[in-house]
Amino acid sequence: MPMVRERSGVDKIAPYQAAKSLESIKREYGLSQVIKLAGNENRMGCSARVGEVLNQLNSQFAFYPDPNCTILRERLSTLHHVSSENLIFGNGSFELISLAAHAFLGEGEESVIPDPSFGWYRNVTLQMNGTPVMVPLKDFTIDTGRILEIISERTKIIWICNPNNPTGTILAEDQLNDFINRVPKHVLIVLDEAYIDFTEEPYFNTIDLIKEHKNIILLRTFSKLYGLASFRIGYGIGDKELIERINRVRSPINVNFSAQKAAEVSLDDEAFKNSVLDNNRKGLNLYYTELEKLGFPYIRSNGNFLLIQTGKEPVDNTFLQNGIIVRNAGEFGLDGWIRVSVGTYEENEKVIEVLKTIAERQTGRRKNDYETGI
Ligand SMILES: Cc1ncc(COP(=O)(O)O)c(C=O)c1O
Repeated sequence: MPMVRERSGVDKIAPYQAAKSLESIKREYGLSQVIKLAGNENRMGCSARVGEVLNQLNSQFAFYPDPNCTILRERLSTLHHVSSENLIFGNGSFELISLAAHAFLGEGEESVIPDPSFGWYRNVTLQMNGTPVMVPLKDFTIDTGRILEIISERTKIIWICNPNNPTGTILAEDQLNDFINRVPKHVLIVLDEAYIDFTEEPYFNTIDLIKEHKNIILLRTFSKLYGLASFRIGYGIGDKELIERINRVRSPINVNFSAQKAAEVSLDDEAFKNSVLDNNRKGLNLYYTELEKLGFPYIRSNGNFLLIQTGKEPVDNTFLQNGIIVRNAGEFGLDGWIRVSVGTYEENEKVIEVLKTIAERQTGRRKNDYETGI
């Protein structure tokens, strides 16, 4: 039977490989217990207030939610000192990334994407029949100099993931400011700040950038620090005309009621946020200390994840046998590396135990190779 004729360009889009859900991993590998450290989720869960509040609100579940996220909008506009018109909400920042491309990228126009970085930028570019222009990282960091060199008349969007997923590197304040000042004003800069709360050193207030530059949108998410990944809610901050343009391609009721309420109560729970940040810093420090001892190279991270070079031999199965799922960074073009989300302290210790067995195996092999003269 002949296939329905698809829109041109759809054939070029490879299905996006999102991190698998916990349940599907358990089924696939026949495991009853899994420590999932492959999706940069929050292993501390979310604020206990979320469940309490949603339980009291079930009389609302049959109604459509507020299409404007009014209460959350007011809360965030106060928190960030921006007008409510500077904000747009999405079904996770995944959706906001799509909306930015839908609003601004036309057929044959270029979108500049550091590589490796978050994979969805390339996917949405292809959805619009745009041309992805990949710019390799330099020393695991976004190469702003190279990006400036390749901007052309056809460039419409530049995607800057800061801190960058999967490397965890961040641009210095001066470097970011200098870069933004040199990008032509007709080019949209999407500053994806999914991990901005986890920076090693306090970062400058990037929200001020939108007051000076009309061509920037910042993307933030409730999935990471707040642990609300299952609810699907993120937001963008930008000049009001930019936001108004993106709103034109947004589906009218894109953020569900529970997500809005969960986000509202999460903003108030300072103790939970502090515990997440504290756990993240302690977890990363534990990794740094142990990785130094084991001799595995790693990249210091500004996110809730860490890139570790374990070598050519695949290690996914060794982790799986221990009930742990990590991300093989070969998927991002970093062969021989894994990306591990920071877990609870005990989970991090378990990962380190597995790394120890891998290190021992590798040392044994190197020793054997030497002894047998290979
Ligand atoms: C850099 C980056 N941007 C956006 C997202 C999507 O986040 P959300 O859950 O808000 O859709 C992720 C998810 O991991 C991410 O790593």
